Amino acid sequence: MHSGKLITFEGLDGCGKSTQLDKTKKWLTRQGYDVFTTREPGGTKIGQQIRKILLNPEHKELQAESELLLYLADRIQHIHEVIIPAKAAGKIVLCDRFHDSTVAYQGFGRGLDLKSLESIVTHSIKPFAPEITILLTISPETVALRLEQRREQITKDRLDSESLNFFKRTSQGFQTLASSEPERYLSIDGEQEIDVIHQEIITALQKRFQFYLQQK
Ligand code: TMP
Repeated sequence: MHSGKLITFEGLDGCGKSTQLDKTKKWLTRQGYDVFTTREPGGTKIGQQIRKILLNPEHKELQAESELLLYLADRIQHIHEVIIPAKAAGKIVLCDRFHDSTVAYQGFGRGLDLKSLESIVTHSIKPFAPEITILLTISPETVALRLEQRREQITKDRLDSESLNFFKRTSQGFQTLASSEPERYLSIDGEQEIDVIHQEIITALQKRFQFYLQQK
């Protein structure tokens, strides 16, 4: 049996990645693939507890380093409890955010030096890196606008209160990652219509990643 694949969806808050993940899942399922969807933080029972801590707007005292370690703890649980077994069963795993979010948000956004965690990342996360990462790019100004609209509808989470400059640095982080690994990254303009973005994702998956998808 061929092992499965991990495809991650990345981008700034409000970039539309969850919508696109869902549409990609439906399309891959129609093509006959066994698809499993999940997310970070919160893809396991322990991860759901961690997500609550991370996103609670009352947790203003949460230190940047603690935040970083919580994201990593969530990821390591997720890799072992969910991603490895799903891939071993031959599934295509679609994951809403993965380690690139930590590099972009905690590394570039918060300005933390991730080098001190290199050995954990090298041993516990890098071996399970995604085969494909779909990055939906939107401007930090659009993020601010979309979060403002979201705020009118639902309660803000802790990260919804970040400044425009934070999202500018995070955006720079994603762009740096995408250009350093062009063979893994598929970067798509997330400000286009939903169906246009979906079509671009499908076309790219069919063409560029045919090799992976053929290995059912
Ligand atoms: P979500 O809204 O896409 O589910 O993500 C929750 C928030 O967590 C979002 O603001 C991005 C942030 N985040 C990080 O800062 N670092 C990480 O490693 C991950 C996975 C998410």
